[in-house]
Amino acid sequence: MTQPAPEIVRSIIALRRNLAVWRASGEGIGLVPTMGALHDGHLALIRAAAARHRRVAVTIFVNPTQFGPREDFSAYPRNEADDVAKAAAAGAALIFAPAVEEMYRPGFETAVNVGGLATVLEGASRPGHFDGVATIVTKLLLQALPDSAYFGEKDYQQLLVIRRLVRDLDIPVAIAAVPTVREADGLALSSRNVYLSPEQRRIAPALSRVLATVADRVAGGAAVDEQLAWGEAQLRMAGFDAIDYFTVRDAESLEPVETTVRSARILAAVRLGTTRLIDNVAVGGGQG
Ligand code: PAF
Repeated sequence: MTQPAPEIVRSIIALRRNLAVWRASGEGIGLVPTMGALHDGHLALIRAAAARHRRVAVTIFVNPTQFGPREDFSAYPRNEADDVAKAAAAGAALIFAPAVEEMYRPGFETAVNVGGLATVLEGASRPGHFDGVATIVTKLLLQALPDSAYFGEKDYQQLLVIRRLVRDLDIPVAIAAVPTVREADGLALSSRNVYLSPEQRRIAPALSRVLATVADRVAGGAAVDEQLAWGEAQLRMAGFDAIDYFTVRDAESLEPVETTVRSARILAAVRLGTTRLIDNVAVGGGQG
């Protein structure tokens, strides 16, 4: 069935006005923040939101403050018309696509800094990244004040950082997690997969295979340090150029774990040429 074209709004005032009408009519609102370049992983977020809420708003904003100076902000894929069509088909009723100047007015100088949780793993590899994510997500949540906001488990640390900031800042929005969507060969969907050459694309699924194997073995009682060493060796043999981290962490605090008495997550960041891939799985939970 063809979906009605969603309303596209570019100002915070228009966003608030539209959502206020929905709220006044008692319609539940789900928010799906994205940076565009929508793939099936994003569409799973939109569908999950549409299954629970009468109205779904999708934000499309390539947020400059979460990119490092040598990262791909300018090259990041952008195709708004395509994104709007996909979001509409998945159930979005409104698209918020502001310009950078709308979100960061002249003189903007506030940042949301989440502590310890945001300093490890991605936080250590990409200094400042989570300040940018936490700041923009805080702004989007306060601008929209949805009932729930949806984030993918693919960016597992981001999900935990967002849950923490919402709790610490008393933002009255429920944070919903949606499992990672994968290609048939296991590669986690990411807007950055388009950067992979055919040869790199052939190597890339080894990451999810190794993660899944190590997760199964650790869940079965194998020693964590031995499995991590085995996994790293497998990734190097598969052809990855660098491993930023490959680690087993407590699923809530991201503290390192040596045994898996508590619930745990295996997280990895690897490089193929200039492309950085991240992925993670639950220990004992199969591929998440
Ligand atoms: O996961 C993303 O796409 C971004 O980090 C987010 C949450 C939309 C903030 O810019």
